[in-house]
Amino acid sequence: MPDRFTDEHVETWRREGAVMLPEFFTPNEIAAVTGDFELVFPDRQGGHEALVKKKAGEIGAFNQAQFKNFENIPFDCSPALNLLCVHPALVELARSALHTREIQLYQSQAWAKFTGEADFEQLFHCDFGNHTLTVPSEDECANSITFLIYFTDVTEDHGPTHYVTKTDSTRAGVPAATFSDDLDLQDQLRDYERTTAAPAGSIFAYGIDVYHRGTNLTVQGGYRYAVTSCFKKAGNEAIGYMAWQFQHTKPWHRIFDHATPDQLGCFGVPKPGDSFWTEQTLIAAQLRYPNWDMSPYKDGLY
Ligand SMILES: [Fe+2]
Repeated sequence: MPDRFTDEHVETWRREGAVMLPEFFTPNEIAAVTGDFELVFPDRQGGHEALVKKKAGEIGAFNQAQFKNFENIPFDCSPALNLLCVHPALVELARSALHTREIQLYQSQAWAKFTGEADFEQLFHCDFGNHTLTVPSEDECANSITFLIYFTDVTEDHGPTHYVTKTDSTRAGVPAATFSDDLDLQDQLRDYERTTAAPAGSIFAYGIDVYHRGTNLTVQGGYRYAVTSCFKKAGNEAIGYMAWQFQHTKPWHRIFDHATPDQLGCFGVPKPGDSFWTEQTLIAAQLRYPNWDMSPYKDGLY
């Protein structure tokens, strides 16, 4: 696999809490995921006109309609979308960023936005509110890394996330990782906001302590397909979002039937050779997922 990221990307993420990785995924990977989006969110089309609900002087606000097409994996579609969140290159990037080999995927969602379905313009905020019960650590490796991955070309008219680097937040005189709709604070950040507008296949990698905000889709008939994928160090109980087990009614065989042991390990499945695997657990797991290739786990037992 060719190198898709450099040490410089990792260093920028550590220092600034945010980095863009343009065109990380190949055209074939993008086409397969886009096809899955059309299955998961069928018959949706962007409207002719952007919906604008924000009041004069307001930068934006959260509203439920922004999350209308925002769902957890797995889906009844191909492995392309179901396994994108644990693509080997993405997993390696998360390992490098978090400075550990032992990582866990703790959130992954497919998110489609269509012109006119919502006013997608948001206030600046940090994501730590629903990733930890307290506040972000000052050690970025003790937090987590979120990947926002675009699977359609995203211009300024397609609702790119805007963000402010940590250096610029300090320059703006804004306190680290606060919740605030204070207009002065929002205006201070606005002077430094950057865009994530980028071609399909690009990644915006950021931390839970980075100020960012969604922007509106304004292009006629426009849509934006994105996947989110969040990783933390294995065993970091301070960080969480999704208990995969709570999604038990979803089609997990779509993941088990195609994932490698390393990819399944990101979901918390014990690796081959782990003492969890015994004659009995191998048989029972095979009954639960009849088409799962368990040979690496069987080989690990003997
Ligand atoms: Fe956010």
